[in-house]
Amino acid sequence: MYAYTYNEYGSPDVLNCVELPTPTPKAKEMLIRICATTVSAGDWRARSLTVPAGMGLIARLVFGFNRPRKPVLGTELSGIIESVGVDVTTFQPGDEVIGFPGAGFGAHAEYITMPANGKIVRKPENLTFEEAAATPFGATTAYDFLINKGKLRAGERVLINGASGSVGSACVQIAKHFGAEVTGVCSASNADLVCNIGGDLVIDYNAVDFTKEGPKYDMVVDTVGTVPWSRVRHALAPKGRMLLIAGETSDMILGGLKARLRGQRLIGGVASESVDILRKVVDLAARGNFRPVIDQSFDFSQMITAHALVDTGHKKGNVVVTVDPNSKSKLGANEAPQ
Ligand SMILES: NC(=O)c1ccc[n+]([C@@H]2O[C@H](COP(=O)([O-])OP(=O)(O)OC[C@H]3O[C@@H](n4cnc5c(N)ncnc54)[C@H](OP(=O)(O)O)[C@@H]3O)[C@@H](O)[C@H]2O)c1
Repeated sequence: MYAYTYNEYGSPDVLNCVELPTPTPKAKEMLIRICATTVSAGDWRARSLTVPAGMGLIARLVFGFNRPRKPVLGTELSGIIESVGVDVTTFQPGDEVIGFPGAGFGAHAEYITMPANGKIVRKPENLTFEEAAATPFGATTAYDFLINKGKLRAGERVLINGASGSVGSACVQIAKHFGAEVTGVCSASNADLVCNIGGDLVIDYNAVDFTKEGPKYDMVVDTVGTVPWSRVRHALAPKGRMLLIAGETSDMILGGLKARLRGQRLIGGVASESVDILRKVVDLAARGNFRPVIDQSFDFSQMITAHALVDTGHKKGNVVVTVDPNSKSKLGANEAPQ
């Protein structure tokens, strides 16, 4: 099979399309032929080792000290089960699925093996393979922070900073579905997008500083890392919560304490990657209550271009890469992109 690997940290040019042995599923695993995947913020961070100031050492311990430990990126996928191990009874060849390897990576390839009891669910019929692949990363992060960690309640006033990104656009839709009044912060060019997915109000971050003017919010969600606690606290209601999905290291370490001293809360950390949350967001999608936003869809041979778009920090929702079963004919070893 073909896969994109990287052996050093850096720009999208560190990626190479190489031929690897197609993996064989163990007794409790399944071999999945990948139909679509995405280039997520997780791929960007792992490839470029771009992390908040002071987190470099921890990032190297996680991703690999001198070189990447997991050479194939790709956090999420949709595909078709090709074969199953002898102990697998819950899925069968031909099933259309959504997989979320998450921090395990490995989806920038034509095939992947995953445990049958892992983060894998059936693809609803109302989602295309592209939409299905773009569902896990943003929506499970949004669901875990808003619902599990943040305990969002209907009627609350919620502000999402970075409302047009993968996590932000999922936050807008999920917060709206659970009855919140949602304000999205994005650039003017993405205002219509954020309104169309459920934003009640939109703030252009180039025109208005929501921490200096406007109402107080029950919940402020930062998916970008541009609004530290020292500013957000002024925009929070007396018992408000800040959800720090992306932010400064000092806020990750001390923000929780500072917030509690004011009777407020700052909730950070890492989103839980669980099959239960994946099931919940896929169920929302199946019922028409969530639909991932797709910026552009690239062919597998354009993986490096897809990474370059993500590197801009201004993608709209998700950047999808489709994996054509005939890509072998397009991706002969001599034609593989460098
Ligand atoms: N804590 C966790 O467990 C966890 C889990 C998943 C992701 N994350 C982190 O969450 C972050 C977001 O991920 P993502 O996939 O949503 O990224 P993304 O899709 O790349 O986010 C891009 C969006 O950010 C917006 N943006 C850029 N500058 C902005 C600003 N100054 N103010 C407001 N919005 C701005 C852009 O909107 P415009 O083009 O309109 O500027 C764009 O739509 C990443 O840092 C990722 O590492 C954390």
